[in-house]
Amino acid sequence: MVSLLENPLRVGLQQDRIPEPQILVIFGASGDLTQRKIVPAIYQMRRERRLPPELTIVGVARREWSHDFFREHLREGVEEFGNGLGHEAIWNDFARGLFYCPGDIDNPASYQALKTLLAEIDETRGTKGNRVFYLSVAPRFFGEATQQLGAAGMLDDPDKQRLIIEKPFGKDLSSARVLNRVVQDVCDERQIYRIDHYLGKETVQNLMVFRFANAIFEPLWNRQFVDHVQITVAETVGLEGRAGYYETAGALRDMVQNHLMQLFCLTAMEAPNSLDADAIRNEKTKVLQATRLADIDDISQSAVRGQYSGGWMKGQSVPGYREEEGANPSSTVQTFSAIKLEIDNWRWKGVPFYMRTGKRMPKKVSEISIHFKDVPHLMFQSAAQQMNHNVLALRIQPDEGISMRFEVKTPGNSLRTRSVDMDFRYDAAFGQANTDAYARLIVDCMLADQTLFTRGDEVEASWRLLTPLLEAWDAPADPKAIPLYEAGTWGPMEAEFLLNKDGRRWRRL
Ligand code: BG6
Repeated sequence: MVSLLENPLRVGLQQDRIPEPQILVIFGASGDLTQRKIVPAIYQMRRERRLPPELTIVGVARREWSHDFFREHLREGVEEFGNGLGHEAIWNDFARGLFYCPGDIDNPASYQALKTLLAEIDETRGTKGNRVFYLSVAPRFFGEATQQLGAAGMLDDPDKQRLIIEKPFGKDLSSARVLNRVVQDVCDERQIYRIDHYLGKETVQNLMVFRFANAIFEPLWNRQFVDHVQITVAETVGLEGRAGYYETAGALRDMVQNHLMQLFCLTAMEAPNSLDADAIRNEKTKVLQATRLADIDDISQSAVRGQYSGGWMKGQSVPGYREEEGANPSSTVQTFSAIKLEIDNWRWKGVPFYMRTGKRMPKKVSEISIHFKDVPHLMFQSAAQQMNHNVLALRIQPDEGISMRFEVKTPGNSLRTRSVDMDFRYDAAFGQANTDAYARLIVDCMLADQTLFTRGDEVEASWRLLTPLLEAWDAPADPKAIPLYEAGTWGPMEAEFLLNKDGRRWRRL
C-alpha cells in the first residue's frame, strides 16, 4: 500500500500509464458532449501518444448515420472545439478507428448489432475485448441501457468491461437507490464509474495534494482555527437550450448534489490512509454522513434559492429564465442555490460551510475559501476600519491557483494594517494547458482507476443530505414566492442575509 505522504503526486492517477487497446462505446454519440468535449479531448491525447494506436470509438445513437458521416461530424468538432487536427495523416489514422452503430436504447436487436460490430473490431484492430461503455444519454435511460448491455452479455467480464454513467445519478435518494440496485445487479461495483467531471479538473485533484502533502496547513484545518468555509461555483451562462432537462433538475440537482458536494468532500474529509480509490471514497462518504443542513427544522435558515430575471451581461441584454426558449413561463425552478451546512464531527463541529452556485452571475468563477478566526486580541488599527481575517483561497477555475490573504503594516509612521494577497498561479508556475477533465476521467476508467469516480454509497449519502431541501423546493410553489435576481448579479438578497445574520459576508470575487 502506498502512503499518501510518501507519494503525493500519484493522487488519483496513473496518468503516465498508457491504457490497453480499447473500444470506447459512447451511447448518445450524436449529442453535444461527444462532438464538443469527449472526442476533441481524446484526439488531443492520441496526438500526444497518451493513448494506444488501437484505440477505437464506436458511437451509438438513434439517428441513421453512416461511419463516414460520424467521422466528418467529429472532424468538425475537433476543428471547432479542440486544438485543431494537426497533420492530416494523424487525423486519418484516428478516423479509421471511428465507427457508428445506429440503435435504440430499448431494443435488444440494437445491442446484438453492437456486439457483432465490437467483435469484428476486436479482430481487425486488436482491441482484445476491452471496452468502456459511456452512457451519455438522458438519465431516465441509465437503468435500461445497463440492463440491456447486461442481457446481451456485454458486461460479463469485470476485468475488461466497464460502464461510465453521467450525472445526475438519480433525482433523489430513493431513485438513486433504485438505480444503484439496477446497475449493481448487472455489474460489480468495480465496473461502475459514476462520472463527475469536476473530479477530473486538475485543481480539484490538487486540493488533496495541497492539504496532505504540506505540513503547515493541516494543523490549522479544523474548528480551532477556521471560522467558516465558503464554496462558490458561479457561471455566466444561462439555460443554453437545455430547458427540457433543467426544468426538472434545477441548480440543486445539476450542480450542488454532485460538483459542489465533491468540492465540499475534498475540503472537509479526513486524510485517507492511502491513495487507494476506496480509502479516499471511504473518507468522502464518512464526511457526507456526518453533514447536515444547518437547520433541518427551518429550511429557510439553511438555504436560499433564486431564479434569474432579465438583465445585462457584458453590455448585452439577456432574457430571464422564464423567457428562455422552452422554459415554463411560470417556472419555480431554482437557477441559484445557497446552502449552509454543519458537520457533526470532532474536526468541524460549529464551523459552517456556506456553498452557493448560480447561472447568469457576473463572472465564471469556482473557488473554495477558508476563512480563519480572528486574532484573540487586536493591538493595531486597520486601514479598513476593521481587521480582515486571514483567508486561504483555492481557485478552481479560471486563473487556477491559490492565494493567501494576510495583514501587513502600511508604510508610514503609524502602526496601521492592511490586507494583501500572496498569489500562486498555475499557469505562471507550469505554463501548460491542463488535460481536459473528461479525457482525463475516461483514461482513468480505461486504466481501471476509480479514485476520481463516485461510489454508490457516496452518491446516496449526498442525496440523503439534500433530501429536506429537495422536498421543500420540489413542492408546488407560487411563482411569486421564488426570489428573483437580475441576470449579471450575485443572486438574490436573501443569499446575503444567509451570511449576514451570522455576522459574515460572501467573499467578493
Ligand atoms: C454541468 C452542468 O455538469 O456542469 C451545467 O450540467 C454546468 O449546467 C456545467 O454549466 C459547468 O461545468 P464547468 O466545467 O464549465 O464548470
